[in-house]
Amino acid sequence: MITCELCGSYNVAKKGMRHNASGSKQCVLERTHFEKSWDEIDHIQIEASLEIIGELKEDKRAPTGYEIQVKEYKLIGKSENYPIAKDQSIEFLADNRHLWLRSRKMTAMLKIRSTIFQAIDEFFKGEGFYEYHSPIFQAVQCEGGSDLFKVDYFGQKDVFLAQSWQLYAEPAIFALEKIYTIAPSFRAEKSKTSRHLTEYWHAEMELAWSTFKNIQDYGEKLIKFIVKKVLDKNKADLELMGRDPKKLEPTLKKPFVRMTYTDALKILKEKCDMNIEWGKDLRTIEEEKLSTLYDVPIICTNYPKKVKAFYMMEDAKDPRTVQGCDFLAPEGHGEIIGGSQREHDIEKIKERLIEQGEKPEQYEFYLDTRRYGSVPHGGFGMGVERIVRWICGLETIKDAIAFPRTIERYKP
Ligand code: 4AD
Repeated sequence: MITCELCGSYNVAKKGMRHNASGSKQCVLERTHFEKSWDEIDHIQIEASLEIIGELKEDKRAPTGYEIQVKEYKLIGKSENYPIAKDQSIEFLADNRHLWLRSRKMTAMLKIRSTIFQAIDEFFKGEGFYEYHSPIFQAVQCEGGSDLFKVDYFGQKDVFLAQSWQLYAEPAIFALEKIYTIAPSFRAEKSKTSRHLTEYWHAEMELAWSTFKNIQDYGEKLIKFIVKKVLDKNKADLELMGRDPKKLEPTLKKPFVRMTYTDALKILKEKCDMNIEWGKDLRTIEEEKLSTLYDVPIICTNYPKKVKAFYMMEDAKDPRTVQGCDFLAPEGHGEIIGGSQREHDIEKIKERLIEQGEKPEQYEFYLDTRRYGSVPHGGFGMGVERIVRWICGLETIKDAIAFPRTIERYKP
């Protein structure tokens, strides 16, 4: 399909931009050549679609240095009073998202997003992982009950939309050892922030026989792989979005910064004058401050046990902490990956479930993974829109997905 935005010198010729997924080019329809159909041509409006046969010619005055002198055309899809124009409000563009997708910036983002999805797939397949799928309707919580979406499931209580594949992925490592997925996750986030969606795409991996270090290394390698693919394929798209590709180069060239939560508190105090009591989780503002200090992602490890999920492995060297890690993207983008080594002591898991107000009997299927030949294992989850937002340098995560779902918006 060829879409044209037509404008310009009506009496002599009609000019318009032909643009489709591969780019845009000015097209010229000379009146002398199209005298008979001039009335129709004169009424073609922005976003009409046409089939065109013509000659490509160099012309320095044209926006791309070339234009198409049209010889034949066929109007395929009329367009009248296209609602999108310059300087419209964010709310108006969100209501008309289905049309706004055609804008050049959204098109560039969608192309980069596609590269990222392909890169995730290629990376894990290349590392010998199997693609594995978990259910979206789930009967247990994984990341805390406060942001679960309850579903009316034929009158059954306690059915939720997946927050993560994890509790249904751990059972599968005994069959496949190395697994990954890219699937939607759902969080009933009450917060209106620039990094929270209620529905987002989650790239997750789970690895049998892992160490905590393996998990961090895979996360670092994956992010480097994604950034390399985007820089190889989408430099022009990044530039079109006003994103300087050079900002991503340190991520490729330098090792990520690794620090413990306790180190992070010290750095926040010394460099940002922020005093956080040991034991409190890092808030968005603190993560953002920390990640502005570096030009590569930070891997922050060993958070206090009480602020992290029940399945994270207690650290034998400091049992107040867990072998969990958050990856924070540079330039103040905050958390992009959350992962951990998994606790394999069944009694500790039960204790922590009870502490967090859960009923261990609902987790019997999960506890079986620890009863019958458990192995050391771990994994992580990466929010794909968070990666898209950081790579594209977007102000809000809402612009990292075609139809964002947030506390305030579920339409169109
Ligand atoms: O840190 P989280 O909650 O970890 C888990 O879900 C683990 N079960 C993953 C695992 O080990 N398999 O979420 C993982 C990532 C976060 O780092 C963030 O990038 C993204 O998911 N995320 C969100 N992205 C967009 N909107 C939200 N509301 C998000 N919540 C988490």
